[in-house]
Amino acid sequence: MLDGKKILYSGMQATGTLTLGNYLGALKNWVNMSEEYECLYGVMDLHSLTLRQEPAEFRKNARSLYALYVAAGLDPEKNCIYYQSHVSAHAELGWLLNCFPYMGELQRMTQYKDKAAKHAENINAGLFTYPVLMAADILLYQTDVVPVGVDQKQHLEITRDIAQRFNGIFGEVFTVPEAYIGKIGAKIMSLQEPERKMSKSDENANATIYLLDDRDTIIRKFKRAVTDSESVICYREDKPGISNLMDIYGAVTGRSKEEIEREFEGQGYGSFKLAVGETVADELEPLQKRYAELIADKSYIDRVIKANDEKAAYYAGKTLRKAQKKLGLTERIR
Ligand code: TRP
Repeated sequence: MLDGKKILYSGMQATGTLTLGNYLGALKNWVNMSEEYECLYGVMDLHSLTLRQEPAEFRKNARSLYALYVAAGLDPEKNCIYYQSHVSAHAELGWLLNCFPYMGELQRMTQYKDKAAKHAENINAGLFTYPVLMAADILLYQTDVVPVGVDQKQHLEITRDIAQRFNGIFGEVFTVPEAYIGKIGAKIMSLQEPERKMSKSDENANATIYLLDDRDTIIRKFKRAVTDSESVICYREDKPGISNLMDIYGAVTGRSKEEIEREFEGQGYGSFKLAVGETVADELEPLQKRYAELIADKSYIDRVIKANDEKAAYYAGKTLRKAQKKLGLTERIR
């Protein structure tokens, strides 16, 4: 694209408030990627429509996600941060690509099966073709790498299959992207059920640290974190609660498991939990301050949104036109 750097693409859905899991697992690590890659990050609002959203709240959440990206340190001048719905090429390429995967392939997607089971009253066609829109997101920008969690690995595989199938039939249009799984980012688990991933939508509010939780709330949630009946701080499979707290502490401080074990040797769970809570609260404080400033300064965010929407639309439009031409759609008369 620019500078001959490789292209990195990722994004998050525009629903709910981001959690500490989203931050330590993804966002925090995206911040330094712009040195090495040309980075694009979408506010994936079209994907959010596969579940019913309350319009006013949805609009607010999308804006909040945009501001959180920036508040976390993603520079909107160095990274292309934009709204998926503002670049119509996503929906257009999404349609073209819908004609490539087979029903059976989409039926095997575990996220589809999970969501269909969870939302049995609204198993809409969008839920089914969700991965195809995701493929369009990625392929529009000739993406080389996509940092995603393991839960999105299958979607990346089908993206590759779609790209290869298209290229195989119609000629080279799309770069076949690589997943960037587990190379960066920690997997953060629920504070209440440490066998489960920390989730935006957990019914138990104590299970999840939200990025905009205040200091007291953060510390209280860590104090209540579920652990075990031993009282040694060490990283072991049969101690998922303590191991998760160590992962969190390590992701924030950059310390290794061994260093953390040494640091808290002989100390009880109470003081360890407090230390983790304070460290997380300290980490999030500047982000929260910056977030409040950004939300208050409407004109700044509007300006960067506009500039980045245009940039994204420019690159996406190029790929879209190439795909249309290869497929034999009649070119527009200019
Ligand atoms: N499906 C992703 C998630 O829920 C969000 C997403 C949509 C995405 N399009 C993408 C992630 C493209 C990476 C690349 O986490």
